[in-house]
Amino acid sequence: MNSPTEMLEREHRFIAMVVGMTPVLAERIESGQSVSPELLRELVDFMRTYADKCHHGKEEELLFPLLVKKGVPIHGCPIGALSAEHVKGRALVKGLAEAIDAFEKTATSAKEEMVKNLRGIAGLYPGHIWKEDYLLFPMTLKVLNADELGSLYQQFEKVDEKIGVNHYQRLEQFAQQIERHLS
Ligand SMILES: [Fe+2]
Ligand SMILES: [Fe+2]
Repeated sequence: MNSPTEMLEREHRFIAMVVGMTPVLAERIESGQSVSPELLRELVDFMRTYADKCHHGKEEELLFPLLVKKGVPIHGCPIGALSAEHVKGRALVKGLAEAIDAFEKTATSAKEEMVKNLRGIAGLYPGHIWKEDYLLFPMTLKVLNADELGSLYQQFEKVDEKIGVNHYQRLEQFAQQIERHLS
């Protein structure tokens, strides 16, 4: 059976590849080395489209409401806490995008803002992914039956189709190659 939680876990691996590079980028910017604004923009695009619209979309618009319908509390742990982290992540990516714009206009505080938001992303996501892989998904497999899991998987596929399968694959390639961009 196609598993919706395995699909989300797989996406976590790609998100972790990109997030894993954020401290490296922060370090480089901080130490005055040049970092291509193009690469930073691609990172923002990955975080907005793949991590947020596609991946968080599947979680927030499909998985969480279904779990709530099955009796999991909407507030507190885990759904309330994870949703709040999505909001935080969105704000950090927005802050990073604004700092990149400001940097291109040579604003003096832009570097600091870029570093702050990159480090924020680096600090937020690993714990978020851990909580989902080891707490949320095992719980999901207990709460939902096989039919519900199957239909969730199909709904997830529709999210990918909306984003465009080619676009989705391009973003995964970006994640796989980001390390090379930096070497
Ligand atoms: Fe999440
Ligand atoms: Fe997730």
